[in-house]
Order: sequence, then C-alpha cells, then structure tokens
Amino acid sequence: MVAAAEAALARWRERGEGARLDIATEMTAITFQVILDTMLSGGEGIDVEAAARKITDYLETLGKITPADLLQWPTWTRVALAPRGQRAMVFLKAMVDRMVERRRREPPRGDLVDLLMQAQDPESGRRMDDVLLRDNLLTFIAAGHETTALALTWSLYLLGRDPETAARVRAEVAQVAGEASLTDADVARLTFTRQVVQEAVRLYPSLPLMSRMCAEDTEAGGHPVAKGTFIFIPIYAIHRHRRLWRDPDAFDPDRFAPSESAGRPRFAYLPFGGGPRVCIGQAFALTEAVAILATLVRGATLEPDPGHRIRPVMRVSMRPQGGMPMTLRLR
Ligand code: HEM
Repeated sequence: MVAAAEAALARWRERGEGARLDIATEMTAITFQVILDTMLSGGEGIDVEAAARKITDYLETLGKITPADLLQWPTWTRVALAPRGQRAMVFLKAMVDRMVERRRREPPRGDLVDLLMQAQDPESGRRMDDVLLRDNLLTFIAAGHETTALALTWSLYLLGRDPETAARVRAEVAQVAGEASLTDADVARLTFTRQVVQEAVRLYPSLPLMSRMCAEDTEAGGHPVAKGTFIFIPIYAIHRHRRLWRDPDAFDPDRFAPSESAGRPRFAYLPFGGGPRVCIGQAFALTEAVAILATLVRGATLEPDPGHRIRPVMRVSMRPQGGMPMTLRLR
C-alpha cells in the first residue's frame, strides 16, 4: 500500500510543481495497484490495462439500477440488459481462474490469495474450491477498489480545504515515522490520520445508501413493514443528522477522538454498514486509506481548484461529478 502511494508520488514529481491532477483518477490508479499486489498476484500474466477497463465496465453495470432490480425480475434479465457488464464478468472470471490455477502450483507468498487458499471452515474443515475462491476474489475487487479510492479522494479534498488539519496530519506522520517509509506498526499509530479518514467517510460515505428486502413482516420505529418491502437505509442522511452529530456539515476529525466517540449510538455511523453483513474489508480499507493518505500528504500538498464546483453524485457509490481537479504543490 505504501509502495503504491510512493510510486504515485514519484509520477507526480515527474509531472512537476503546479501540475493539475484529477485526484479521483489518481486514487483509483493507486487502489488498483493495491488490488494487483494483494489479490491478483502482482499482475503477473495479466493484461493490466484490459483488466482495469473490464473492472470499470463490470462496476458500472453493478452500479446501475435497472427495471430488473426494482421489479425483481430473474437474474438473467439483468444480464440481458447489460451485455457489456456481462462480457466483462466473463473476462474477469477467466482471468482470475487462470491466476488461481497458477497460484495453486506456486509456493505461497503470504498475500490475500494465499490466505483465502489456506482458509478452512472452522466447523467442516472444508477449504475453498477454485470457483468459490475466484468468486470471493472478484467480490473483493468489486467491493474494495472504488470505495477506498473515493474515501481517499474525499479525504484529500477536505484536507486541501483545511491546511491546518493537513499540517496536523503531516506533524503526526513525522512524529511517528520520521523520514522513513511507513511500516505497518507506524500505520497503526497514526490515530489522527485515521480520524481524518473516518470523518471523510462520514461526510462523503463511499456507499451513501444501503438497501434491503424485508424477509418477514416486522415493524421499524413503530411502523409496520410488510414482508417483501424494499427498504433504503440512507447512510448519507444519518451521517449528517442534527440530532446525532454536533455541527454535522463541518469537517472536524476531532469528533472521532475517543472522548467524543464514547457513547455515540452504534448505528449513527455506518460507512461500512452494520450487522451480519458489515463490510468484511473494513480493516483492510482503513489500513489502506491511512497508509496511502499519510504517504501522499507528506510528499505533496494538493489544492482544490477554486473554479471547480464540487457536486457529489450518487451512482451506488458517491463520487465527485467531473472528477476532483487539484493542483500539485511538491514538498
Ligand atoms: C472505504 C472503503 C469501503 C467502504 C466505505 C465500504 C463499505 C461497505 C458497506 C457499506 C458494506 C455493506 C453493504 C450492505 O450491507 O448492503 C460493505 C460490504 C462489503 N464490503 Fe466494503 N467497503 C469498503 C472497502 C472494502 C474493501 C477494501 C473490501 C475487500 C477487500 C470490501 C469488501 C466488502 C464485501 C465483500 C462486502 C459484503 C459483505 C457481506 O455481505 O457479507 N469492502 N462495504
């Protein structure tokens, strides 16, 4: 994760002082590199550009709500309505199948692919077969790539507008790691940097809305809810609710200091969901976002473009419309 951020900084240095960068695209490139390194064998034997393109096609299909979803038509209609996404899925499955086959023959290297290959069901002792392994890897890629890139994009935007907070992050990184590359122990100690990421995904949750199909008749807040009802959980609105948060629209990472977090209702803060389907990648994503943010902030200051109006738009994930243009100041 740190290496991917350092490689991005090196690319930025080549672009030079004052370069205009689309930070949304830059963050996606970094998180994609992390996926290659942790889940796709470092990209060996993979056409990286084709893979990146197909992942985008696949995510765009997932990201569109079609009539098939709302009317609960059978899955094949969804596929028929999105041939590009379907082709991307076939491509990605074959790509990961080939990688899994190769990795089964190679010695372990300690990445996520190995962890999943070694994982054993605690009750049955069963391990994953190739199809289950491939589908898990593809799910991680789809769920973990853009979400983390967006968390970083919004973090850098908020820091760009708040030089004092950016200076606090930089001071923390210097105090914890000096000039050296960050280690995993350093990342765990970057508590204020972590609070910045936590605050960024409060204001701009990568997934601003969750949906559920009600499995049985029940009630919520005194209202009867019938089996089969479609329910939306508005994460974005909950995160800015005046009864749950002081000064809810302000960027203030100190609200995640332990003293202020104590006593906050668990479901006031849902960037990673909650309950049995809570994000399985939460720890991975937070570690990744903190490691990358800390590395970037120490090498560069990014200034938001004053002429660009930031409009968050929701496409399942919440992204800045037209990207996130920022000006590079090297440090
Ligand atoms: C900042 C980054 C991330 C955010 C904001 C995020 C957010 C979420 C949310 C809100 C859910 C719950 C969806 C629901 O209940 O309907 C979820 C589920 C999930 N996430 Fe993440 N996620 C992030 C990063 C990741 C990463 C890095 C991975 C994988 C390495 C990942 C893998 C998953 C998976 C597999 C699920 C489904 C879990 C299940 O249904 O049991 N996520 N995520």
